[in-house]
Amino acid sequence: MAIIPRDTMPDSTLAFALEGYTFIRRRCQRYRADIFQTRLLFQRTICMLGAEAAELFYDTDRFERSGAAPRRVQETLFGRGGVQGMDGTAHRHRKAMFMELMSPASIQRLAELSVEQWRVHTEKWRRMDTVVLLSETQEILCRTVCAWAGVPLAEAEVEQRTKDFVAMIEGGGAIGPRHWRGRRARNRAEHWLGDLIEKVRRQEMPAEADNALAVVALHRDMNGELLDKQVAAVELINVLRPTVAVAWYTTFAALALHQHPECRRELDTDGYLELFVQEVRRFYPFFPVVAARVRHDFEWRGYPFPKGVRVLLDLYGTNHDPRQWDHPEQFRPERFRHWDGGAFNFIPQGGGDHYRQHRCPGEWITIALMKAAIMLLIRLDYDVPTQDLRVSLMRMPTAPKSGFVIQHVGETR
Ligand code: HEM
Repeated sequence: MAIIPRDTMPDSTLAFALEGYTFIRRRCQRYRADIFQTRLLFQRTICMLGAEAAELFYDTDRFERSGAAPRRVQETLFGRGGVQGMDGTAHRHRKAMFMELMSPASIQRLAELSVEQWRVHTEKWRRMDTVVLLSETQEILCRTVCAWAGVPLAEAEVEQRTKDFVAMIEGGGAIGPRHWRGRRARNRAEHWLGDLIEKVRRQEMPAEADNALAVVALHRDMNGELLDKQVAAVELINVLRPTVAVAWYTTFAALALHQHPECRRELDTDGYLELFVQEVRRFYPFFPVVAARVRHDFEWRGYPFPKGVRVLLDLYGTNHDPRQWDHPEQFRPERFRHWDGGAFNFIPQGGGDHYRQHRCPGEWITIALMKAAIMLLIRLDYDVPTQDLRVSLMRMPTAPKSGFVIQHVGETR
C-alpha cells in the first residue's frame, strides 16, 4: 500500500489561515503529488487537488457530507440542518427543491430584476463622488433576490439585511470578530425568515406558488412533513445569501475589464460574454475548498482512505492546475473555446452533477447575473481612480483590497 505524503507540521490550521488559497497547492507541489495528509482543526485531513481527485471526491459511494463541515462554518456560512450536510436519497429530495427554482424563465426573471436594480443604482451613482462597486453590488443583489424570492424588504431594513448576508459569507473562513459577526448575522436572519415562513404556512401572507419563499415554506420532506421552521429558514438563506455572493464575481469581472481592456471590444462579438464569465469564475478565487468524510475504507491509487477521515478538495488549485489549464495564471477567456465541458476540471462552484451531487444549484443564476452586470458595466461611463486593487490570496473570501472604486459615473451608452 502506498503512503500518502504527510505534511511535517503537527497541526496546519494556522498555516491554512495564513496561506489561504495556496495552502494545498503549495504542498502538492512540494510533495510532487496531488494528495497529502495533515492535521487541520486537530483532525486528520487528506487534501487533494486536480480533476482526477475531484472525480473521486464526488463519488457518493465513497464520501459523505454529514459531519464534514467544521462547526464554525455551520455557525456562519451554512447553518444547521441544510442541504450541504445531507447524503443519499434525503439529499437528492432536498436538492430537488432548489433545482425547482432554476427554470430558465425563473432565472431570466431574476436577471431582469437585477437589471432594474442596476439602473436605479447607476442613476444614484451619477450623483456620488466615489462608488465602491463591491458593496453597492451586494445591495443591488440583496434587493434583487428578495424581490425574486417573494421576501418583503422594507427600505429601512435593506442596509442591515445586506450586511447580514455579507457577514455570513465572510464569517465562514474567519476567526475572531469576523466570525462572531457572521454568527450574529445568521441568528438575526434565521429569526427574520423563520417568522416569514410561519406566516406563509398560516396563510397570513400571500406567496406565489413558484417563488423561493413559498417553495421552501411548503416543501415536504421524504416523510411528507413540513421542514422544521429553523431548517426552512436555513434553506431560504441558502438561496438568498449566495445570490448576494455573486457581487464578488461581478466585482472581479469589473477588475478584469479594467486590467484587460482588450476584452471590452471582444464583448460585442458573438459568444465572447460566455467565455469571459467562465474565465472570471476560473481565474479569481472564491470558495477555496469543499469538505467531505470517507464513508468506508477504500484505496485509491494504492493510497488508503480510512473511514471517517475528513477530505478537502482544492477548488482554486484545480481551476489553476497547469495539467489542465495552459498558463493558468494568465487571464485568457479564449481558453474556454476549447474547454471540454468536463464536470471535474473547472469547479468554481463544485463539480459532478447538479441534481445528484452537491454541485452548486445556483451556477446558472450566477452566470446569468454576471452576464447582465457585465453588459451594463461595459455600457456605463466611469473612471477607475488610483487605488489598491491587489487581490490577497490569504484572505478568504477575497476581493480587490479597495472593493473596486469608480468615479465620475456618467451616462449609460
Ligand atoms: C453549493 C459556490 C452561488 C446555492 C456550493 C458549493 C460551492 C458553491 C463551492 C459547494 C459544492 C460542493 O459542496 O460540492 C458558489 C459560488 C457562487 C454560488 C462561488 C457565486 C458567487 C450560488 C447561488 C445559489 C447557490 C446563486 C442560489 C441558489 C447553493 C446551495 C449549495 C451550494 C444551496 C449546496 C448544494 C448541495 O449541498 O447540494 N456553491 N455558489 N449558490 N450553492 Fe453555490
